Amino acid sequence: MAKGLFVTLEGGEGAGKSTLARTLKTALEAEGRSVVLTREPGGTPGAEQIRDLLVRGAADRWSPMTEALLFYAARVDHVEKVIRPAVANGDIVISDRFADSTMAYQGAAGGLSLDRLQELHAIVLGEFKPDLTVLIDIEPETGLSRTAGRDGSEARFESKALAFHERLRAAFRALAEAEPVRFVCLDGDQPPAVLAEQALQAIRERLGHG
Ligand code: TMP
Repeated sequence: MAKGLFVTLEGGEGAGKSTLARTLKTALEAEGRSVVLTREPGGTPGAEQIRDLLVRGAADRWSPMTEALLFYAARVDHVEKVIRPAVANGDIVISDRFADSTMAYQGAAGGLSLDRLQELHAIVLGEFKPDLTVLIDIEPETGLSRTAGRDGSEARFESKALAFHERLRAAFRALAEAEPVRFVCLDGDQPPAVLAEQALQAIRERLGHG
């Protein structure tokens, strides 16, 4: 059986994760791999219901701790029902966001301690982590200008102040620096095809045929 792999895509708003996820799926399927595309918050019917609570409404609707607990409630459902079974089945799972988003959004940008969030992760998911995390790094102004035309009802996090998005970028970069083996950090200002080729290279390396 093919080796399963769990890949996550991370970055701020408008970084280009969803486009990259679709391009990776097409490219890997053309190589004969079975690919499961998923996203957080969401990925299961129950987690999608929790998503609606999180991404809609006023920016101050929830405190960072309430958000973190809701994200982890959705995440454990997603890991148990979709991610673990697919990886065990030999699939490549590509998730548009995962736990690093909680560390960056609710932690560094939202003000919760990274240590407490890591304890929460350990309680809920133990040692479970992605095999590879692709961080798309981009200037917040560039990313936010790309999201301007999107579904406004999901804009709870996008509507936060620019300073929040600056903290977010720094937080993602710090997470990548702290775990250089798991992360690959790509420049989101490059053409989508170049970004996809760099991400594919990292995936192939993790599959053992780089
Ligand atoms: P999306 O816009 O990439 O679909 O993600 C939905 C929003 O949720 C986005 O603004 C980032 C935010 N988010 C967190 O704040 N913490 C998390 O753990 C996750 C997965 C997403």
